[in-house]
Amino acid sequence: MVKFRSPKKKSPKNKRKTDPRVDGKPNRKASRAPAPLPPATLTALIGATGGVGTTSAACALAMSLAARAAVGRTQMQRMTDGPRVALIDMDFQTGACAHHLDLLPTISAEDLSRPAAQIDASVVSVMAHQTVGGVALLSAPNGTDGIVSPRTVLALLDAATQLFDHIVIDLPRRFEPWTSSVLAGADVSAIMAELSVPSLHMARLRRAQLAPALGQMGRALETVITKHERRGGRGSLDLRDVQTALGEPAFHSLPMDPEPLRAAINSGEPLISLKPDCRYALAIEQLADKICLAVAAAHPDASLDASLDPREEPHATAQRSAA
Ligand SMILES: Nc1ncnc2c1ncn2[C@@H]1O[C@H](COP(=O)(O)OP(=O)(O)OP(=O)(O)O)[C@@H](O)[C@H]1O
Ligand SMILES: [Mg+2]
Repeated sequence: MVKFRSPKKKSPKNKRKTDPRVDGKPNRKASRAPAPLPPATLTALIGATGGVGTTSAACALAMSLAARAAVGRTQMQRMTDGPRVALIDMDFQTGACAHHLDLLPTISAEDLSRPAAQIDASVVSVMAHQTVGGVALLSAPNGTDGIVSPRTVLALLDAATQLFDHIVIDLPRRFEPWTSSVLAGADVSAIMAELSVPSLHMARLRRAQLAPALGQMGRALETVITKHERRGGRGSLDLRDVQTALGEPAFHSLPMDPEPLRAAINSGEPLISLKPDCRYALAIEQLADKICLAVAAAHPDASLDASLDPREEPHATAQRSAA
């Protein structure tokens, strides 16, 4: 079991207990014992509007899953097994995962222009040569969106599901031909929105556009509120407005926490190791917990025993995205 950071400070006695479902301010008690990591997870994040923090969340979430996946594995096992977590940047036009992690793009323009039939696990394992914090990065240079075919993108994702147990996808907010397939094939798909009228408006529009594709797979597009300020001041919205605007509450919220994020992005060091106790990192741990619990609930027959090698049984996600 993961041994988590102990809570820093006790919250003041008179402080209202926060709803662990939506509040970015972590419920410290809840964050002590992390949810067990299911054998496999595929999470896809898409921004409702620009700059809301989708890439920051995708990077931090991948790091959190990697830390969980490393528990109970010796250094030797980790080296022999290789990374179990991948972060895939599907924004081929302006993707920034490589910048956030201070890595170079790992997929060449030539690889991206290959026909789908040539993309298999061995090709993708060569692409996934750069890792940080146990996360293998799959990202292409900016401006390669014009050369990639939707079939190649889905073949790449399918191959990645054979190689990695846990995958986090950062989708571009523009709709691409593969957007709905990726979101519908993921275990947990979330639209990231700020608490502002334009962002919630766009989230509602996107949810309506994506509902048919996701509904067919029996899935829903969750909402994650980003840059949440508990005391937003006059004229600001609060989490109750999410219910009003979208017809359901937010799956989670991430707090406004600029300083640690700025420090992490500018140093190239993962936030989870640079500022593990900051509000944002703790809220990401909670998000990872919720994802693990949602996946476990959807696959109750899947063993949570980390000693099992899930690669022996292809995860349903691989079959879904191949379909
Ligand atoms: N919770 C947060 N609190 C404060 N600042 C944040 C938070 N999340 C992200 N940021 C900052 O917001 C900026 C944009 O973040 P990020 O690149 O993750 O957004 P994005 O939604 O992926 O943007 P794009 O639409 O361009 O892809 C960065 O400077 C980042 O540090
Ligand atoms: Mg981004």
